[in-house]
Amino acid sequence: MSERFNEYEGLESLDDRSVVGRRIVWSESTESTNDDARLEADAGASEGLVVVADLQTKGRGRMSRTWTSMMGRDILFSVLLRPSAADLPKMPLVAGLAVARTLDAFTDTPISLKWPNDVRANNLKISGSLVESGSSDAGYYAILGTGVNVNLDAAVHPDILEIATSLRTLNGADVSRREVMRRLLSEMDQIYTSTEHMATLVSDWSARLETIGQEIDVRWGDDFLHGLAEGVDDTGRLLLRDRDGEVHRLEAGEVTTVLADPS
Ligand code: BTN
Repeated sequence: MSERFNEYEGLESLDDRSVVGRRIVWSESTESTNDDARLEADAGASEGLVVVADLQTKGRGRMSRTWTSMMGRDILFSVLLRPSAADLPKMPLVAGLAVARTLDAFTDTPISLKWPNDVRANNLKISGSLVESGSSDAGYYAILGTGVNVNLDAAVHPDILEIATSLRTLNGADVSRREVMRRLLSEMDQIYTSTEHMATLVSDWSARLETIGQEIDVRWGDDFLHGLAEGVDDTGRLLLRDRDGEVHRLEAGEVTTVLADPS
């Protein structure tokens, strides 16, 4: 029997949401909530399902990185959505914007986005999303897997000390994961279920992108590009102008970005 209690108990019954989080599956520990959500999706689960865990033993980030978090400190969750084919590429934007709006409510520190979907405070990463898609008999689906550093103490993780922060670090005190999760589900539901919010999604999201106007380096596999991030297109692909003036449209799934060395 689990010795931990489910901090998110009862959130599924709150009526501030119509889709996201109407069913919540919590576990004390799992390999990856994205993998659990995919199993549910393939078995035909309804959209809005949330899988959340207090610990992941094989938490994954983009570009095959690992996602670090200690037991019970942070929010590690995956949301199953079944958007139209047209909206599928916008799911990373839904995740990033929902997290940024949520964090606004819990800290006075300005929250920004680094393309494609790092959420940042004080130039450090506070959240990231790994959005994976697939299809089953019930059609296309997207799994929005998000880690939010709520009470992480980066000082105990030497590998991420210089790149990560948390709400606790920003505020100097522990923050309730339940309250942050409640707001996250509500923000995500509001964006995803509203035609109005989906219509302004790309502009609302890109308004927070610190990447625009910066010289950046982009890597995918062994390839490398340097250029000016000029903007995003209508699905959130990054428009990068290289030294020869050619504009490249970059998909979030393929590349990793870093600020260019100013020298
Ligand atoms: C990134 O910034 O590279 C994305 C990190 C995504 C981490 C979350 S934690 C919940 C979900 N389960 C996973 O294995 N990964 C995502």
